[in-house]
Amino acid sequence: MCGIVGYVGGGNVYDILIGGLHRLEYRGYDSAGVALESPSGKLSVYKTLGKVSNLEAFCKDKDTDASVGIAHTRWATHGEPSDCNAHPHYSEDGNIAIVHNGTIENYKIIKDALTQHGCTFKSETDTEVLAQLIEYVRVTNNCSLVDAVREALKEVIGAYAIAVIEKDHPDTIVAARQSSPLVVGIGDGEYFLASDATPFVEFTDKVVYVDDGQIAVITRGEPLRLLDLDNKESNVDVKKLKMSISQLEKGGYPHFMLKEIFEQPETLRDCIRGRVVEGGKRVILNGVFDNQEKFLKAERIILVACGTSWHASLIGKYLLQDMCRIPVEVEYASEFRYSNPVIIDRDIVIAVSQSGETADTLAAIKIAKKMGAFVYGISNVVGSSIPRETDSGTYIHVGPEIGVASTKAFTGQVMVLTLLAVCIGQLRGHLNAEQVQKLGEAILKIPAYVKETLKLDKTIERLSLIYTYAHNFLYLGRGYSYPVALEGALKLKEISYIHAEGYPAAEMKHGPIALIDSEMPSVIIAPKDHLYDKIVSNVQQVKARGGSIIAIVSDGDETISGIADHVLKVPDVPECLTPIITSIPLQLLSYHIAINKGKDVDMPRNLAKSVTVE
Ligand code: F6R
Repeated sequence: MCGIVGYVGGGNVYDILIGGLHRLEYRGYDSAGVALESPSGKLSVYKTLGKVSNLEAFCKDKDTDASVGIAHTRWATHGEPSDCNAHPHYSEDGNIAIVHNGTIENYKIIKDALTQHGCTFKSETDTEVLAQLIEYVRVTNNCSLVDAVREALKEVIGAYAIAVIEKDHPDTIVAARQSSPLVVGIGDGEYFLASDATPFVEFTDKVVYVDDGQIAVITRGEPLRLLDLDNKESNVDVKKLKMSISQLEKGGYPHFMLKEIFEQPETLRDCIRGRVVEGGKRVILNGVFDNQEKFLKAERIILVACGTSWHASLIGKYLLQDMCRIPVEVEYASEFRYSNPVIIDRDIVIAVSQSGETADTLAAIKIAKKMGAFVYGISNVVGSSIPRETDSGTYIHVGPEIGVASTKAFTGQVMVLTLLAVCIGQLRGHLNAEQVQKLGEAILKIPAYVKETLKLDKTIERLSLIYTYAHNFLYLGRGYSYPVALEGALKLKEISYIHAEGYPAAEMKHGPIALIDSEMPSVIIAPKDHLYDKIVSNVQQVKARGGSIIAIVSDGDETISGIADHVLKVPDVPECLTPIITSIPLQLLSYHIAINKGKDVDMPRNLAKSVTVE
């Protein structure tokens, strides 16, 4: 996590950096800072605890005239959030300043060695150690900053995207990447540098994705150079960025989260476009059709993901099992990577990740590839690490997701997993043409049904007032609705800070039922599906113990509607498509409860959107 930005060029350096930090704030907001170098080579560092707006207030009376600069928004790993631990960090002699996203695993050993050479440290961070190491190498070897960065990084174990500037060199930024994202934007006589392309989307559409092990040397008036740690130069592959500024703005909504919830009819349409064709007759995913042999021979599918993406993957398991009759496992990437997994070359590993940068998911991919599996990626961010590391894959194409709590990316992931299941199902002969057409037609109607479901917003807003001060919630569902229950509980936890647990409804009687009383609301996801009659019994069990019930049911429902305290009716869709529909009221419920509690829904405490650390 953490976001880094850099700029060299004729524009207003400070304004560009601050604008960029605002765009990257989703990556962390414990502290923020800038290092600015004036045209005469004077280096100034301003940094402060809290959000970027605090930094702006702090810099109001400071000299911000600069020709080059770097900036950072932090999600704390080493050292508590504080002014002192905020980035940029600088060498003891004040000669270089650095911003860093990632973690240096062997920082303690390096720190001890530098201390023996007389270095002293102000902060508790691993990044300050890197700053001091680079400067130590530069002074000891009497070499250039680029060479010092190269040599220093040879000593470092860990993940980093760094940007470094040096006093008296107001034209140059040296940046490097290992396992943390880094993109360079090439403008007209100017260069941008950032953790993703959002800080410079309005300035240029020419981007270069820096690869692991590469150092980018960015100098005003000179071509961009990419070197490896052995000083070998590689070609610069300039790509065209497909992102628009309007995708990064709130578009009249008070929060990104609400905008993203309401965007879902459109984002799902984008996700389906060109993939469900001939009126639903055929479902095409190029990533599958280009690798037919692998999908035909596969003996098992393992889905790896974290958080909300893991919940989408769990829905993927139900979809793939139902439509492809293939064994499917779902693993938390963080567990999978250390579980000594058994993988064979007929396994397909599917990594699901909105950001495409989650460190645990990336590590799981690397292990699976090494062990011979074919690895497929499902991501949102074009050009991010996961699509680049995987053998093949599919983008969900839902546009940038800025709200930290994932909403449109979740439904996009579920949609792509549905398309994937239909695609593999037809390829392996488990779905006939008639079944594919029926599913295809139903998929095409989903955006309209999501739009219909969003009309529940005002009802949910009123309902949320009753439950704003509940201390705990249970979310219950069965079959396809079980992962939806997990996701509903996670949404509530992360933005309203109310404890919530998702549970398979039938498991409730094996323990959690003891929690039920009048103080414990249950949200029960019970659309019309093959388990409907079963969940009716679970609803009655909660009711019999005095628990209040909010039920998500299909249009036309009568039975549960007669028992539950509050009923939210959603369009009746085929069972395999219910998760996309039933998750919408849960997103709205968590949003409104959090707003009632005065919480910052777009930037909930302690969280960051892109988890690039273990
Ligand atoms: C929750 C949320 C997180 C992410 C998780 C994985 O709303 O967004 O749980 O789902 O951190 O992130 P990605 O999907 O980027 O790999």
